[in-house]
Amino acid sequence: MGEISKKLQGKVAIITGGASGIGEATARHFINHAARAVVIADVQDEKGHELAESIGLDRCVYMNCDVSKEGQIKTLVETTVKKYGQLDIMFCNAGIISKAEQTILDFDQTQYEKVFSVNVLGTAASVKHAARAMVEGKVKGSIICTASVSASMGSLQYTDYTMSKHAVVGLMKSASKQLGGYGIRVNSVSPGGVATPMVCEKTGMEAEEVERTFESSYYLNGVLKAKHVADAVVFLASDESEFITGHNLAVDGGYKQ
Ligand code: NAI
Repeated sequence: MGEISKKLQGKVAIITGGASGIGEATARHFINHAARAVVIADVQDEKGHELAESIGLDRCVYMNCDVSKEGQIKTLVETTVKKYGQLDIMFCNAGIISKAEQTILDFDQTQYEKVFSVNVLGTAASVKHAARAMVEGKVKGSIICTASVSASMGSLQYTDYTMSKHAVVGLMKSASKQLGGYGIRVNSVSPGGVATPMVCEKTGMEAEEVERTFESSYYLNGVLKAKHVADAVVFLASDESEFITGHNLAVDGGYKQ
């Protein structure tokens, strides 16, 4: 990295869905930008513990937390504040995509509820408990949600996921208005296609193959990596964006819609 960045110096962060993909890259980035502590919250215990150990247990811990259970998010935030004294950054990133391709003709209430319970309700509860801790601790914090390119267009195959990501942007914009008076900023990032485990599992392809498939989707040449999304999250988490709120930042190479 050359000169050591101090963009997040002293800050305490939670990353939901932090054990893999975009969350993992962001955890490493937060530490590289001098965050005091990063709490990785996920349901993949082995991966989460391994990541925390590889980053360094002095500044990174793993906590099991299923974001679809509000009580678990409350405990996650309370434990973090108890351990580190405050919460400055909440990256609400946990998300799932349904396995089967489906149109509205295949509407399945159970399937939609499953996707919504993580992507929408899990994100809303994460914003709520992070914001409460920030208000209580008088912290002018930053909350960042992961939306998607799917949040600004329709989809031929993934109606439930697309609906859920539109809802994340609606949540982010509403929360930014409601929390602005406390000095709390709320923004989102909307990544294009990144070859994370989620996408590789869904497509049944190796990462390189996924990247080749996505390559023609961007006006910029090259491959979109989790690191590019993490760069945007660091910006929104840091004081460099101190007067930006209610913004959905596309990280998609100029996605061809
Ligand atoms: P990933 O599968 O590598 O990471 C997602 C993480 O969320 C996993 O570690 C998973 O265990 C965790 N998770 C799932 N359900 C959870 C729950 N109930 N509670 C806590 N953690 C849970 O996938 P990726 O791609 O890094 O996804 C991160 C976010 O980025 C998601 O919100 C996804 O929708 C979004 N996204 C991803 C894109 C891509 O092309 N990879 C594009 C646009 C958005």
